[in-house]
Amino acid sequence: MPEMVGVDQIGQVMTRADAEASWPWLSIRWVDQPPAEGHYVSWQTDGLHLKSASLDPRSSVHVDFIAGAQARRLRAVTGEALTRAIGCQKGLRPSVFDATAGLGSDATVLANVGCAVYAVERQAETAALFADGLRRAVEADLQWTHHLQLCHTDACDVMTRVTHGVIYLDPMFPKERKAAPQLAMQVLHELGESADAVDLLFQHALDSGAARVVVKRPLKAPYLGNVPPASEIRAKTVRFDLYPRRKLTDSECAPWEQFA
Ligand SMILES: C[S@@+](CC[C@H](N)C(=O)[O-])C[C@H]1O[C@@H](n2cnc3c(N)ncnc32)[C@H](O)[C@@H]1O
Repeated sequence: MPEMVGVDQIGQVMTRADAEASWPWLSIRWVDQPPAEGHYVSWQTDGLHLKSASLDPRSSVHVDFIAGAQARRLRAVTGEALTRAIGCQKGLRPSVFDATAGLGSDATVLANVGCAVYAVERQAETAALFADGLRRAVEADLQWTHHLQLCHTDACDVMTRVTHGVIYLDPMFPKERKAAPQLAMQVLHELGESADAVDLLFQHALDSGAARVVVKRPLKAPYLGNVPPASEIRAKTVRFDLYPRRKLTDSECAPWEQFA
């Protein structure tokens, strides 16, 4: 595992050491001043941040499920296009294998409406930021944290063991989008999310035992693997392509203990 530079100007070593237990896969060499180039993590009073030496030092990627935009999204608990695409209906909350968890925005929405979510993120820094947000949400005893598990691994390595529920794929959008991506997406792109082996991921999902595969795409993007979905759910800027493999049943709500 490559070593990562971490800047700790506040020296809260005890808290930092506790928090580090939630991202054991990240090997960090802590220093007290930001490096001149590259990405680095920064330890601040509210937890872990990711920064880039090439961007404004005041900007950072930080995951917060307790306050801010994502917390508001969670409190709204609405019937978003995402939850409809997954197949949430009255009395039915499919378990979800989120194969591209990123910073956990979608995974936490799904856990918040009652789905058991197994979230997988292969990029080490991204998984660490999500884990750090999750750690603070667990400390705040937010209910949805009881049925969300996060694992730092490549989804392709575990996908064949998915036997039920829904597989959700939200691969990185193509870079050529006209609108400037949010800082989080800029940094995630810079972290090397390029030839994504997305088609392989998609093929593994279709070959698994999941009842349904759901793919999030930009509105005008081609279908993954050029495979037309059975149906689509369109939101303002994205669409969800639905690939049902068989009917979703109540028993699809089993938790993801098999991966624990
Ligand atoms: C667009 S982001 C997902 C955003 C996420 N849905 C959210 O709500 O925050 C795509 C993520 O998928 C991850 N990813 C891509 N291929 C993966 C794989 N094979 N296994 C695990 N994670 C993968 C990338 O590292 C990236 O963080």
